[in-house]
Amino acid sequence: MEVYILPDEDAIGEAIADRIQKVFENNANANLGVATGSSPLPTYRALAARVADGKLSFKNAHFFMLDEYVGIDEDHPERYHNVITTEIASKVDVDPANVHGPEGNAPDLEAAVKEYDQLIKDQGGVDLQILGIGSDGHIAFNEPGGSLVSRTHVGVLTKQTREDNARFFDGDLSKVPTHCVTQGLGTIMEARELCLVATGAGKADAVRELIEGGISALWPATIMQMHPNAHVFVDEAAAAKL
Ligand code: GLP
Repeated sequence: MEVYILPDEDAIGEAIADRIQKVFENNANANLGVATGSSPLPTYRALAARVADGKLSFKNAHFFMLDEYVGIDEDHPERYHNVITTEIASKVDVDPANVHGPEGNAPDLEAAVKEYDQLIKDQGGVDLQILGIGSDGHIAFNEPGGSLVSRTHVGVLTKQTREDNARFFDGDLSKVPTHCVTQGLGTIMEARELCLVATGAGKADAVRELIEGGISALWPATIMQMHPNAHVFVDEAAAAKL
């Protein structure tokens, strides 16, 4: 695992955009794994600027999302498909039909998660996956205590994650969904390259465990230590406990 301590989130965004650009220079049909949360936003801004300048194109790309809330209204701004559309897909030249995510409102969720896992494989797998990290060390919605080799599955959100995300639901915990559908850690680990972003003091414990802790289901992101091409981008505040 390569660790980069950079001065601020814009430097991180540019560094990850450089890696993404390299992937797409080698293969214009590559598959990009996109993540929600605030951490990837500087990367998305950097990507949109490069597309606007003609330096990068996602015309032939497919985007694969990590996760989705279960039971959230289709037009809710916090539905992850809508977040990804707003923050990145609508700002670059990707075909909206090529933006894929696990379906949180499918009548048969168990069938839907299996189909999504298969779709990623059928499309050739994710070339580069952007990741954030929860303050409890979760990636996507793989919460502490879950399997380190899981496939895409239906999950229960922990109280801490629901509290962390309540800010997106008028600060009202009762409005935060209780369940999710998420790529499993086994699915995420199949991406050919992982780029994880963590900024701010709130991530310092998770970053310490990710980089210096033992591999443990109690800190799900630690499985990334087993990945042959994983890159972790942090600012000084997130690196403070290393
Ligand atoms: C949610 C998402 C994760 C994300 C995490 C951290 O729980 N499911 O994919 O990494 O939030 O979000 P942020 O980057 O806003 O701290």
